[in-house]
Amino acid sequence: MVQEKGKYTVITGASSGIGRETTKAFARRGKNLVIVARRMDNLKMLKKEILDEYQDLDIVIRSTDLSVPENAYQFYEELKDYGIETWVNNAGFGNYSSVADQDLKKIETMLHLNIEALTILSSLFVRNYKDAEGTQLINVSSCGGYTIVPTAVAYCAAKFYVSTFTEGLAWELKEAGAKMKAKVLAPAATKTEFGMVANNVSEYDYDKSFGTYHTSKEMAGFLLKLYDSEKVVGLVDRESFSFRLSDPLFPYAGNSAHNQQRM
Ligand SMILES: NC(=O)c1ccc[n+]([C@@H]2O[C@H](COP(=O)([O-])OP(=O)(O)OC[C@H]3O[C@@H](n4cnc5c(N)ncnc54)[C@H](OP(=O)(O)O)[C@@H]3O)[C@@H](O)[C@H]2O)c1
Repeated sequence: MVQEKGKYTVITGASSGIGRETTKAFARRGKNLVIVARRMDNLKMLKKEILDEYQDLDIVIRSTDLSVPENAYQFYEELKDYGIETWVNNAGFGNYSSVADQDLKKIETMLHLNIEALTILSSLFVRNYKDAEGTQLINVSSCGGYTIVPTAVAYCAAKFYVSTFTEGLAWELKEAGAKMKAKVLAPAATKTEFGMVANNVSEYDYDKSFGTYHTSKEMAGFLLKLYDSEKVVGLVDRESFSFRLSDPLFPYAGNSAHNQQRM
């Protein structure tokens, strides 16, 4: 693998919300960045904002629709000259509806983005970098990836996938003695564009809908705490809104004699 261009942090879904603030948080740490989303204008503005303050950083911007699997492969392929230190799979969206009433086109796209793109990008990053010192993969799930929330069943199921996939990968890397760490961030309500997208509306009032929520900046701060820790999960409590770092939360079969043997 060619790596001519130093160390980079890759953040998907950087054009708004948690991804945007996470980008700024890594910039404050002096990290070169590759940021991706569909809205190029937002990425350009973010790049300018960062470079106005940190002229020495390299900020690479890419516009692509990651809900199309071929685009996810192509996005990864185009980064082959960059040495990647940290990868944050943050791009994702939700939907509020009963299962019977849900818009299946929207759900298909959600599964493509929240599950498929995240799996493709995680797997390629792990394949290439698992033995590189200091590397981390952080996947953004949700507290809905640990608790089923009414009217968000498909979204929660997708986020359960993100949580279990990432916790399972963390076990796999640990047992293989790999250098890479895999971690899950599980936010609760955070004021972003999430509410608008999930409800198919152009305005969304977090104060009316939630009362309590975190700002994107606070959530980016939690992500950085997870990044700095040895723990696998960073979870916001849905009731108290406190943030805690923890070991993996799902049951793990380990080397049980009842596991099917890999041939
Ligand atoms: N906000 C919350 O309450 C909350 C709670 C728990 C978990 N989360 C999770 O946090 C993550 C970030 O969401 P957010 O709250 O910051 O919402 P957001 O403000 O809507 O940000 C979502 C980001 O994902 C990008 N994105 C959406 N569709 C995409 C596509 N097809 N291809 C590439 N990028 C795409 C968006 O950029 P473009 O539109 O420019 O493509 C945007 O940058 C998500 O995974 C979400 O599920 C959020």
